[in-house]
Amino acid sequence: MKRAWMIWTCLWLLATGLALASIVMAQTPSPSSVTIGGQLYDTWWKAVPDVKPPDGNHPLWALQSTNKRKGTVTWRCKECHGWDYKGNDGAYGSGSHKTGFPGVIGAQAKSVDEIKAALKGSTNPKHDFSSFLDDTALTNLATFVKHGLLNLSLAIDGKTKKPVKADIARGQQLADLCAACHGPEGTQLNFGKSDEPEFVGTVAKQNPWEFLHKVRVGQPGSDPPMPAGLEVGWSVQDLLDILAYSQTLPEK
Ligand code: HEC
Ligand code: HEC
Repeated sequence: MKRAWMIWTCLWLLATGLALASIVMAQTPSPSSVTIGGQLYDTWWKAVPDVKPPDGNHPLWALQSTNKRKGTVTWRCKECHGWDYKGNDGAYGSGSHKTGFPGVIGAQAKSVDEIKAALKGSTNPKHDFSSFLDDTALTNLATFVKHGLLNLSLAIDGKTKKPVKADIARGQQLADLCAACHGPEGTQLNFGKSDEPEFVGTVAKQNPWEFLHKVRVGQPGSDPPMPAGLEVGWSVQDLLDILAYSQTLPEK
């Protein structure tokens, strides 16, 4: 009798333990879900295999006329919502990328399921990505919006585009990792054209938000794959130090 009672107690403890563990796991997203979601936010058809970018403009594109870009790029999350995730309230509030569309930073208050629903058209039927992206990809995107966005308004000076507080020497040490692929000056890979080059230093100076996004989650579809700072284990301050150092590298 006593033995049976003990077995039942053990089973009960095990079951509650497992239930608790699964709640904790559901609340703490794995870094890979956030990083894949971040790469999807950048350029979703490069972040997962066997997905083709649609032809023509995104159906919501016709609601604005300030951003003159056309076609595939109009389907990138970042083109409407910005590298700083603030849409019209951020860097894309003016200039050639201006659309007037809102940011996604406010959506952090929603649940992953609610964000996922918005990606299936719940807030606007034209905002439905489910015929292109499978359930896992939509979960990763929603997880990135919920848990992966950085609000950098206090960390980066909007006018100078420089980090408010950073240690350049420390950034240089951390950036040893980048030099393996980008070279010691960041000029080994050219992301632009041969007559209009774009290097690590160019992106760091011109668009610190894009720089931080890519260094945190990696470059979608890059060969060799660029490591994600989140998976390397870098803190926000580490990233700001790398940014400050990279802003000293050549732009041309
Ligand atoms: C062509 C422009 C455009 C693209 C591309 C786009 N969005 Fe949106 N998004 C909007 C507009 C406009 C709204 C506001 C209206 C609405 O809710 O649909 C919105 C709303 C949202 C919301 C809800 C915000 C809230 O506070 O309720 C989320 C989350 C979101 N978008 C995420 C994404 C993600 C992730 C992607 C990439 C797969 C993406 N969007 C691509 C234009 C766009
Ligand atoms: C394993 C190799 C590798 C490492 C390490 C690496 N990268 Fe990259 N990175 C790449 C590749 C490949 C690309 C894509 C180049 C292209 O599209 O032409 C890229 C793209 C980029 C871009 C985006 C350019 C753009 O506008 O599309 C930036 C910025 C960048 N890397 C910065 C860094 C920094 C900073 C580090 C270190 C923290 C780093 N990378 C580490 C391989 C690497």
